[in-house]
Amino acid sequence: MQIVHIADTTKLNTTVARYIFDRIKSNLHQNRPFTLGLATGSTPLGIYRELVPLLGASGLDLSGFYTFNLDEYIGLTQHHPNSYHAEMMTNFWLPLQKLNPTFKLEHTHIPDTSTQNPDEECKTYEHAIQKNGGIDLQILGIGTNGHIAFNEPGSRGDSRTRVVSINEETRKVNADKFFAGDISKVPTHAISMGIGTILEAREIVLIALGESKREIMTRLLNLVEPTENIPASFLLQHKNTKIYTDMSNM
Ligand code: PGA
Repeated sequence: MQIVHIADTTKLNTTVARYIFDRIKSNLHQNRPFTLGLATGSTPLGIYRELVPLLGASGLDLSGFYTFNLDEYIGLTQHHPNSYHAEMMTNFWLPLQKLNPTFKLEHTHIPDTSTQNPDEECKTYEHAIQKNGGIDLQILGIGTNGHIAFNEPGSRGDSRTRVVSINEETRKVNADKFFAGDISKVPTHAISMGIGTILEAREIVLIALGESKREIMTRLLNLVEPTENIPASFLLQHKNTKIYTDMSNM
């Protein structure tokens, strides 16, 4: 894992957005598709604010551009403002399509948690990632407890897309950030890509912003081998992971 410190968060967002844009552009210029793994939560929003106009104004033909999201809550409809589907519509998919109509909404993927059969949906999602040729670059945030996607502590390193329960710490954090502090409104379950699924991405960019992530990042960076206590530590097994952080002295 390579770590990049950029103290100025705005500059970090611009740097990462530009990096992702260049990776997409390089594939599309060679007539190769590009599949971007998208994350939700507060961390990637500043990057999306930069990346969407870059892609939008690029003049690139985005018909070979695909996205797969990491996870979705169970129990919120797609139209619920706190669903990750709605979050992506608002912050990425619709604004990009408006700027560049070659971007196809049918090329976006997020687990469909409205289904009667979530286990089947997990298999379908895994299959769709494979059929699409895998993920070229996966964006990740990290939870204060070390989770990636909704792979909470205790998740196996070879886990696949599945129904997971969201633990109390994560629900509390998300309640404060997105549900006006009301933990009873935060779903208890989600469909999440597994750690094994994430590790198959050809490249991973993890972003850790702000002091609330210092403790977990310090623990993570001091590890020499993965532990189920810190799901993000399985990234130690991945050959092409970069961590961007705005925290100095780590
Ligand atoms: P955050 O969440 O981006 O809102 O900090 C990160 C995560 O839980 O993965």
